[in-house]
Amino acid sequence: MASNLSVEELWKRLQDANKSKSLLKKHLTPNIYNELKNVKSKFGGTLADCIRSGCMNPESGVGIYASDPDAYTTFAAILDPVIKDYHKVDVLKHPKPDFGDINNLGFGDLDPSKEMIVSTRVRVGRSHASYGFPPVITKQDRIDMEKKTVNCLSKLEGELAGEYFPLTGMTKETQKKLTDDHFLFNDSDRFLREAGGYNDWPIGRGIYFNHAKNFLVWVNEEDHLRFISMQKGGNLGEVYSRLVKAVKALEKSGLEFARKENLGYLTFCPSNLGTTLRASVHIKIPKLSASPEFKAFCDRYHIQARGIHGEHTESVGGVYDISNKRRLGLTEIQAVQEMRRGVEAVIDREKELSHKKKKFPFSLFSK
Ligand code: ADP
Ligand code: ARG
Repeated sequence: MASNLSVEELWKRLQDANKSKSLLKKHLTPNIYNELKNVKSKFGGTLADCIRSGCMNPESGVGIYASDPDAYTTFAAILDPVIKDYHKVDVLKHPKPDFGDINNLGFGDLDPSKEMIVSTRVRVGRSHASYGFPPVITKQDRIDMEKKTVNCLSKLEGELAGEYFPLTGMTKETQKKLTDDHFLFNDSDRFLREAGGYNDWPIGRGIYFNHAKNFLVWVNEEDHLRFISMQKGGNLGEVYSRLVKAVKALEKSGLEFARKENLGYLTFCPSNLGTTLRASVHIKIPKLSASPEFKAFCDRYHIQARGIHGEHTESVGGVYDISNKRRLGLTEIQAVQEMRRGVEAVIDREKELSHKKKKFPFSLFSK
């Protein structure tokens, strides 16, 4: 359950959090706080709803969520600077969706030797235009959204056809197995909990699988909807094409998604909006990840490294989750290309470093 501290108490906590490096702490000035503290969005969302998680968790990186789609307008005075800072843009503008030509992508398997990439995943988030986000929705809202979504998912055909499994009634063992296998989400993110993300857990949540288990939909995890395409190995072309087909099919199925002209598709967390696209590989990079250049290398290619059980987890055995960091101000195909270039550079650098280490003792002897 989220705390119920008032906006004044939350603000005080943030003031006391001297060591906080969050974007909320950096950008919420006394002027902006005073301007927004008594304002409400069209969905009834307040500043307290948006900043609760960041004030209660000063070690947050971002520290703010949108209470609902309208928060991006009502609370723009704080959300805009956070968005600019996170996505590294000076001006908030976003192109029209462009997924590229999936019959002519120009990329396929990023690791034909099958030595380094364990698996590939591409996801996008979507929000129902007429519902708020976790701080302002009710149990019934989640149930209604779930019903609406499942109705549209049941229209999927061909390779996307499948079945929906609600979390309510799913055994703990099945949930754990699906989570360990990287398919399912759980309720262990304390940042999301404090933002109301686990209210009434597990009601209204669930997962859809196609029959091949390489296309999934998460219902009411952090976002109302997450569409996910994933498979073993490094074939980004196949994974991305499947996701694009799914997005197009779901757009036609009657779902209406929240968007804003200059911000693209809207999500609960400002770090995800825009294309909302995160393309990732699980990749074995023991040398590069252990080298002091790793962070700068990732920054140079606009890629992000995560542990293999998702955000805020650690690497296991030198395997990292490498993905595009930027989601705003570029098109979907550009975001995927950015990830592809980054992963190719990671592979090349890992090979160079492995090669150097092997050659070193030999060159000592030959001198
Ligand atoms: P997201 O924000 O994209 O949902 P998370 O970091 O929360 O990502 O991870 C969600 C789940 O997806 C985790 O179980 C994670 O291990 C899994 N995952 C992410 N990328 C890959 C990948 N390339 N291959 C397999 N599983 C992945
Ligand atoms: N609120 C958390 C933080 O500020 C997570 C932010 C990004 N991740 C996410 N899943 N939305 O650190």
